[in-house]
Amino acid sequence: MSMSTDAQRMERIVSLCKRRGFIFQSSEIYGGLNGLWDYGPLGTELKRNVKDYWWRVMVHERDDVVGLDGAILMTRAVWKASGHEETFSDPMIDCRTCKARLRADQIAEKNGAKQCPNCGGKDLTEPRPFNLMFKTYVGATEDESSLTYLRPETAQAIFVQFKNVLDVSRKKLPFGIAQIGKAFRNEINPRNFTFRSREFEQMELEYFCRPEQGMELLEYWKEERLKFYENIGIGRDKLHVKEVPDSDRAFYSRGTYDIEYEFPFGLQELEGVAYRTDFDLTQHIKASGKSLDYFDEETKERFVPHVVEPSAGVDRTVLALICDAYAEDEAPDDKGKMETRIVLRFHPRIAPIKVAVFPLLKNKEALVAKGREVQRLLRPHMNVFYDEGGAIGRRYRRQDEIGTPFGVTIDFETLGEKGDVLRDTVTLRDRDSMKQERVKISELLQLLLTRVT
Ligand code: GAP
Repeated sequence: MSMSTDAQRMERIVSLCKRRGFIFQSSEIYGGLNGLWDYGPLGTELKRNVKDYWWRVMVHERDDVVGLDGAILMTRAVWKASGHEETFSDPMIDCRTCKARLRADQIAEKNGAKQCPNCGGKDLTEPRPFNLMFKTYVGATEDESSLTYLRPETAQAIFVQFKNVLDVSRKKLPFGIAQIGKAFRNEINPRNFTFRSREFEQMELEYFCRPEQGMELLEYWKEERLKFYENIGIGRDKLHVKEVPDSDRAFYSRGTYDIEYEFPFGLQELEGVAYRTDFDLTQHIKASGKSLDYFDEETKERFVPHVVEPSAGVDRTVLALICDAYAEDEAPDDKGKMETRIVLRFHPRIAPIKVAVFPLLKNKEALVAKGREVQRLLRPHMNVFYDEGGAIGRRYRRQDEIGTPFGVTIDFETLGEKGDVLRDTVTLRDRDSMKQERVKISELLQLLLTRVT
C-alpha cells in the first residue's frame, strides 16, 4: 500500500483512530456533534501520558513552578476585564447560496472574486465579528445578571489567583503557575479532525518575571518547549518556529512564537509562546480594584510582574503524535510471508500501552500462569496488556497497530523445558526493529523501566 497523498494518509489515520479506540465522534449514535470528540480507551491513555509528562517537566522537575486547577466557570467580570467579551471573535462570512457559515480567512479568491469553498457561490456577506465564547447562566435565573461563559482558555484563572498563589507558595520572581484543563470555543468552522475543536484541553504556564527579563525568557521558553516535543518523539525537523509578525500579534505582546508541526493537512500551530507583558494582571487590577503586584524584598520595589506564556493544546499534541507515529511497512506473517503492517511508532514514554504479555499457547496452564505472573510483576509500574488469544504473529500485529513498544512472550523455554539456562527467561520483542532478545524475568522490570520513562 503506498501512501499516495496526504489526504489519504489522514483518512487512514482517522479510520485507525476509530477502529482501535483512540478517538470517536461525540454523540455518534445520534449523528454526531460537529467539532466535538470523545477519546476511547487508548486515546485516553495517550492523552493522560502527554499531560503527565508535561506536568512532570513543567512542574515536578522544577523549583520555580507550582500548579493550579481552576474552575471552568468564572464570573463574567473576568471575561470583560481580559478583553474576551469585547474582542475574542473571528470574522465570519455567510454564503447566501448554500447558507454555509465560514471564517473569513477560509474564503478563497478566484479571478479576483471571493468564492464559497463549499459551493463555489459568489454571493457572500461582508465579514462580521463572531464571538467564540459559549454562553451559559449560573443559577436559576437566565438573564444578563447570571450570564457568563465557558472559559476559552485556562490562563485567566492563573492571573486572577496570582496573589493567592504567591502568598501561599512564597515564590520569588521569576516563577510560574501551571495549569491543565478544558477550554471551549464555539469555532465557526471546526475541521481537520480534532485539530480545531469546540472543546479541547490546554496545558498553560504563566511564567512571571521582572520586566527586563521578558524577552530573554521568551527565548528560553521557546527552547524548553521545543525540547518537550522532541522528548515525546516529535523530531525537530517536523517542528517549525514562526515568529509572529507585529501586525498579527496582540497589541500588548512584545514577542510571540508559534511552534508549528507539519500535519498531513499542512503546517499548523501546536503551541504559542507569548511574552504578554503586564497586560493581564494590570487589566484585573483595574477591573477588580485589588492589588496583584509583587514586592521585591531585596530592592524594596513594588511592581506588576510581566509574564511569558507557553500555551499548548493537549488534543493537537495528541494528533501530532498520532500523525507522526503512523507508518506502514512490511512484516512477516505466521507463515513467514511478508505482509503490510500498520505501526504506530510512539515514543515508549507516551505509548498508551507499554508492554504486552503473551503466553505462547492459551491451553497450556503453566504458560498462562507464568504470563499472569509477569503481568502482575509489571502492572504496578506501567500499563500492561495481557493477550493469550490467537496466533502470536497476529497478536504482535494488533499491538504494533496501537503502538505498544514491547512484547513479552512466555514460551516453553521459560518453563525450563529446553534446559535450565533459559528457565525463567522470556523473549522481549521490539516493535520497531521486530528484533527479539532473551531476558531474565528477574531483570525485566528494570530493563523496561529504563526504556519507558
Ligand atoms: N492563553 C493563550 C491561548 O489560549 P491560543 O493560541 O488561543 O492561546 C493556545 O491557544 C493553544 O490551544 C493552541 O496553540 C492550540 O494548541 C490550542 N487550541 C486553541 N484553539 C483550539 C481549538 N479550537 N481546538 C484545539 N486546540 C486549540
